Amino acid sequence: MGFIVAIDGPAGTGKGTITKRIAKRLGLINIDTGATYRCVALEVLNQNIDLHNQEAIIQVAKTIHIDMKQEKEQQQVYVNGENVTEKIRTPEVSKIVSQVSSIIEVRLQMVELQRKLAQGKDVIMEGRDITTYVFPHADVKIYMDAKVEERAKRRFLEYQEKGLKQTYEEVLEDIKKRDKNDKEKELGALKQAEDAIYVDTTYMTIPEVEEKIVAIIQKAKSN
Ligand code: DC
Repeated sequence: MGFIVAIDGPAGTGKGTITKRIAKRLGLINIDTGATYRCVALEVLNQNIDLHNQEAIIQVAKTIHIDMKQEKEQQQVYVNGENVTEKIRTPEVSKIVSQVSSIIEVRLQMVELQRKLAQGKDVIMEGRDITTYVFPHADVKIYMDAKVEERAKRRFLEYQEKGLKQTYEEVLEDIKKRDKNDKEKELGALKQAEDAIYVDTTYMTIPEVEEKIVAIIQKAKSN
């Protein structure tokens, strides 16, 4: 087994940004587990599948071919050979992904894939249930958090930069809904593992969060 850094937390805490930066800095493979659920959600949209049709969604999860490749120092996500790195980040996908990821059979499929992607490698992995379910014995376990208004502000600015038309109120509403969904999942619900280190990023800059987490990782490595 390689060295595993596991990070969980709700949407908009900066997990994605931070793990990318730390992966590059410390030479770890970055595995964004939310992207695996986003790929299933994208395919559900592409195939016009009704969200109540769980069987059809499970079928998508069982047959989809997801690949993550490190290209030009950036992680690229592929679904059945197509690069979907941008497509999985749209508000349409964000809106349904939490519901798609609540289906137990979908989770079992994705967790199997996530463990496979990490096999034998030194990884930094972020999601909702990495410290509690996917890798409960990870070498480093961190729970990132921030006030919901601050998280919505960050996501709103990100959408604005991309030219996506969403109001702050819509983003806030969506994040609140996702928080609730993520915390109430039957399997892999978002919660802080007892032995995870809590990092509140509300009033921290990205470099400050990076330094704090790098220090935690380096301490664990030297033990
Ligand atoms: O981190 P993200 O916003 O890209 O995650 C997308 C969705 O996937 C989110 O609503 C929760 C879900 N998710 C999950 O259930 N388990 C994970 N390990 C990662 C994400």
